[in-house]
Amino acid sequence: MKRNEALDFVHTGPKTLAGRFMRRFWQPIYRAEDLAAGRATRIKVMSEHFTLYRGEDGTPHLVVDACPHRGTQLSLGWVEGGNIRCFYHGWVFDGTGQCVEQPAEKEGFARKVCVESYPLEEYLGIIFAYLGEGEPPALPRFPELEDDRLGPLTIRFRLSPANYFQRIENDLDEVHVQYVHKNIAQRAGMTAIPEITAAETEYGIYRESLRDQGARKIRRNCHYLMPNGLLLLVSPATKFDQWSVFMAWRVPVDDEWTMVVILDRLKQKPKEGQVRDVERESKYPDPYTLTNDIMARKLRIHDVDPDYPDMFFVQDNVVLMGQGMICDRSTERLGRSDAPIVLLRKLWLRELKALAEGKPLKQWSRSPEVLDLGETSEAQLV
Ligand code: FES
Ligand SMILES: [Fe+2]
Repeated sequence: MKRNEALDFVHTGPKTLAGRFMRRFWQPIYRAEDLAAGRATRIKVMSEHFTLYRGEDGTPHLVVDACPHRGTQLSLGWVEGGNIRCFYHGWVFDGTGQCVEQPAEKEGFARKVCVESYPLEEYLGIIFAYLGEGEPPALPRFPELEDDRLGPLTIRFRLSPANYFQRIENDLDEVHVQYVHKNIAQRAGMTAIPEITAAETEYGIYRESLRDQGARKIRRNCHYLMPNGLLLLVSPATKFDQWSVFMAWRVPVDDEWTMVVILDRLKQKPKEGQVRDVERESKYPDPYTLTNDIMARKLRIHDVDPDYPDMFFVQDNVVLMGQGMICDRSTERLGRSDAPIVLLRKLWLRELKALAEGKPLKQWSRSPEVLDLGETSEAQLV
């Protein structure tokens, strides 16, 4: 595809077109239980640094991570009640970003000073932020993951190499499952190359893959939720796993790194030995080290223990890094099986063009009803 600066969906820093578009949607930014009351931390989202802190009453707040006095990181400071005090000269800001105290200044100056702040909401164990201009839309809900009659909910934040858009494209690419995740596809009995269809919906793209395996036909549904969400059923990656309802967001940290945010809930109550086991998992190298070892050819991916807990993630990391941190789309040779990726880019270019021209954008929405995720292996036969 010819690079068009005006319609660039790769770069999401402040004031970029794709950055402005992405900031019109709520983004998951932190695991709620990792932020204790009275603590502050520094996060980076779409090439901007923020101070995320939780007031002593438990309410989270998000402000830009630069004190307007002399610019040090506010996240180095102390939380006092619902406010944060800068570590450098003690200026204090409330949760709206308003300066409320300046120990060495005359009264009256503080009210003229503020730092940008952003709305937050907590839902399903995740802190979501709205980083755009104006009033935020309602936070989308995911009834597929709310049903706690199913198995437990797992929340993972994983830093992943390569630009976020490569991850989104990979989400819409069903053929890679047959090669990149070959061992997992075989475990689920998916042996045929799939026929793929994709269509625009009110929330993004619905993609269906049909594997014609003679007497067995396997249908897989996948929902891409504009701009960077993915919802589907995922098959067991190891003998310790089960089918799960899987929701992932691909959140740019900057243009070369992506925070992969995963919420998954087992489709059924776990059987004995079929739960994520932190003690077992801690014996393995972390996914980033393993990815780097494979990229350095110290290890072949085919030789990784098939019960490695983050196999899906490492397998995808390797191919995405193999494309380059920001891949060159100008040399691609797309085929018919890439139709969902072509559709994805078409929708993005249409929306970015409208945004650049100040025209109305599509109001993406999803039904409050549970989306059709298909069924687990047996019932998936059609
Ligand atoms: S830099 Fe924050 S109070 Fe001076
Ligand atoms: Fe994958």
